[in-house]
Amino acid sequence: MAEELIVRADATRQERYAELLPQIRSLVGSESHLVANLANVAAALKQAFGFFWVGFYLVDGDTLVLGPFQGPIACTRIPYGKGVCGCAWKEARTVIVPDVDAFPGHIACSSASKSEIVVPVKVDGEVVAVLDVDSDRLDDFTAIDAAGLEAVVAALPWTRPA
Ligand code: SME
Repeated sequence: MAEELIVRADATRQERYAELLPQIRSLVGSESHLVANLANVAAALKQAFGFFWVGFYLVDGDTLVLGPFQGPIACTRIPYGKGVCGCAWKEARTVIVPDVDAFPGHIACSSASKSEIVVPVKVDGEVVAVLDVDSDRLDDFTAIDAAGLEAVVAALPWTRPA
C-alpha cells in the first residue's frame, strides 16, 4: 500500500485527479473493507484538493446516513430527496451547486460551505451511497470535478447493501 499521497503542488485540478486516481486504485486494491476504503478516499481527496468537507453518505432504507468523512462534524441523516445529497440520490445523477444559498432545500451543516458537488454511487443501477464535497468558495466545481469524482467512486469496490 502506498504510505504517502503524491500530488504536485503546482498541478491543475484536472492533473490532480489524473495523478490521484492510480494512487486511489492502489490504495483500495489492497484492502477489502468498505469503511477503511471510504475513510482513506475521503482523506486523499481532502489532502489533494484542500476541500472544506469531503465525505460519504450511505443509503440505509429511505435515509442517507453519514459515513467516513474529513472536515467539521456534519448532519448524520438526510431523507430521500432532501438537500443536495438527497436530490443526487433521487435523481441518480451528479449535482453541482455553485451557490448553496440559492439551492432550495439545501441542508446547511456549516455556514462556511458555499458551493457543493454530490456524486451518486450506483451498483447495478441502484444508488447505494453518495460522495459529497463542499467548498468554502462560491462556484468552485465544474465538469472537471464531476468527471474526476465519478472516476474516483468508480474505482471503489462497491457492493449492494444487504
Ligand atoms: N449540504 C448537504 C448536507 C451534507 S453537508 O454538506 C456535509 C445537503 O444539502 O444535502
